[in-house]
Amino acid sequence: MKIPRNDQELSSCEKWNSIKEVTVGHFVHPQGICESHSVGNGTKVWAFAHVLPGAIIGQDCNICDHVFIENDVVLGDRVTVKSGVQLWDGLRVGSDVFIGPNATFTNDFFPKSRQRPSCFARTTLEEGCSIGANATILPGISIGRNAMVGAGSVVTRSVPPNAIVHGNPARIRGDSRLGKATRVKAPAKGDNLPTDASNVRRRLAQGHKAP
Ligand SMILES: CC(C)(COP(=O)(O)OP(=O)(O)OC[C@H]1O[C@@H](n2cnc3c(N)ncnc32)[C@H](O)[C@@H]1OP(=O)(O)O)[C@@H](O)C(=O)NCCC(=O)NCCS
Repeated sequence: MKIPRNDQELSSCEKWNSIKEVTVGHFVHPQGICESHSVGNGTKVWAFAHVLPGAIIGQDCNICDHVFIENDVVLGDRVTVKSGVQLWDGLRVGSDVFIGPNATFTNDFFPKSRQRPSCFARTTLEEGCSIGANATILPGISIGRNAMVGAGSVVTRSVPPNAIVHGNPARIRGDSRLGKATRVKAPAKGDNLPTDASNVRRRLAQGHKAP
């Protein structure tokens, strides 16, 4: 399943196809709660996971114990979501993405109790990328295709395709196509980043819609 960029791109046909797949076969553990009817074949929702009704999940995904998925969330096919992860409104996840245990996503720059923003920031995980355990992804970030986010990283800026990033704040440390042994030089400030969190924050404050 191709990751939709926005709600318009998610045609009613695609929605209907997803819904049809539900009836054919996905698995929900007796202790799991799956309120969505848009879950693809072969997907497994394990114990104490909770999927809200508006979520759309592709085929052959693995939703591990203690995962919470909100309504405005779309997952592609073969996505792994390890335990202790919450996927909040505004998140788009491409196919073959790995989300490590206790990774944290955010969708509101200045959260205040009982004050909902007019819209939540859009976070995108492009096809094939991996998010390490306990990484934190700030709102409005895009993680590029096949990129790797190291364990415990705090990602404050969008990550280009194939980059390995880690640290707080996360910086580019390598190229996932070249593997462990090869390092690329970290770019100078401002070199790499198609979208950065501070831009999104500024734009939201100015009343723009989330990216
Ligand atoms: C980011 C990652 C892919 C880098 O792997 P690598 O390229 O093999 O990197 P190395 O192990 O050779 O480490 C290179 C340097 O970066 C540091 N480093 C590696 N990962 C780091 C991380 N997540 N945060 C901070 N520093 C890190 C190492 O300490 C090392 O520093 P040094 O040169 O000063 O000793 C890997 O460390 C990682 O975090 N993988 C994710 C694991 C995970 O969360 N799995 C979830 C499923 S269990």
